[in-house]
Amino acid sequence: MALKERDEFSGQLTTGHEWNGIKELNTPVPRLLWAFLISMTLFAVVWTILMPSWPGISSYFRGVLGVDQHQAVRQSLAEAEAERAIWSERLANEDFSSLAGDEAIMTVVRQSGPVLFADNCAGCHGLEATGNRGYPNIAQAPMMWGDDADTVAETIRVGINAVHPETRYAQMLAFGRDQMLAGTDISLLADYLVELSGEPVLTVEERETAEMLFADNCAACHGDDALGMIETGAPNLADAFWIYGGDRSTIRRSIYDGREGTMPSWEGRLSTAQIRLLALYVLDLRGATP
Ligand code: HEC
Ligand code: HEC
Repeated sequence: MALKERDEFSGQLTTGHEWNGIKELNTPVPRLLWAFLISMTLFAVVWTILMPSWPGISSYFRGVLGVDQHQAVRQSLAEAEAERAIWSERLANEDFSSLAGDEAIMTVVRQSGPVLFADNCAGCHGLEATGNRGYPNIAQAPMMWGDDADTVAETIRVGINAVHPETRYAQMLAFGRDQMLAGTDISLLADYLVELSGEPVLTVEERETAEMLFADNCAACHGDDALGMIETGAPNLADAFWIYGGDRSTIRRSIYDGREGTMPSWEGRLSTAQIRLLALYVLDLRGATP
């Protein structure tokens, strides 16, 4: 074997290999790398002894320390479940006034409420609960059926014009289609409602006629002052909030064709705790206390 040659420039030994006059240096592996490799190997050996590692046929080597992540996960799931059970129990059974006064409960409401609302309600009422055409604003508008937490929870439970046997029932009659009022009267009433929400359009005489028509045909459900009635679930017609629209032609259409919005019932689909949590969430959005 030829003597190993030393490279003139670097002073390193060469391997003796040569390609077209280019020689390969025999550079030793750096010490640091050796130290790293050895310590990592030692670490790996120690680790496989301490921790669950080698697979067997029906089981595996569990390690000297007895660490078991399955168990850790099971335990933290059980803890979360137990905590949720406490909240659910309280939400389902306690008085709304004591729930609303409890910061810990309201923290749960504010954390879980938006998700529950987004999943079940936002499709109709909007993410902010401010409503869409045909779906009422339940964050700001006066509530047709009442705005205390028990009433709101009941509305969510049974729905409105829904299939639930105890559903709330509300119907705006089709005064035009069913020929209860003449077209001119309906137009006059539409103008009257436009005026009630702040835009004067009627002469004094027209206004008197409209007031009479309203008292005779509408007040029984919407109230004498058109402020709505919780007993009938008929909305306030004198404010800025409209379910279907407050322009003259939409109002006219509401009176002519009638309306019958459907709010689904949630009993059976959401738990009592979830329904009551949503009632608290909606009231919280409204800045109201139960
Ligand atoms: C399929 C559409 C739809 C979904 C989904 C829906 N709602 Fe409604 N909701 C309505 C309609 C429509 C009304 C109004 C019914 C009417 O005009 O009489 C209403 C009315 C209400 C009212 C009564 C408002 C009042 O003025 O008294 C509350 C409270 C309410 N919804 C809450 C919810 C909550 C909470 C959810 C989610 C669990 C939800 N809604 C999901 C359509 C929906
Ligand atoms: C039998 C009770 C009842 C009577 C009578 C009644 N309404 Fe209604 N009205 C309702 C209910 C309930 C609603 C809500 C319907 C819905 O949302 O599905 C409503 C809705 C309306 C709306 C739509 C409101 C909106 O926010 O878009 C208008 C407009 C209206 N009524 C006008 C009248 C006028 C004018 C009369 C008289 C000619 C009248 N109503 C008589 C029960 C009644």
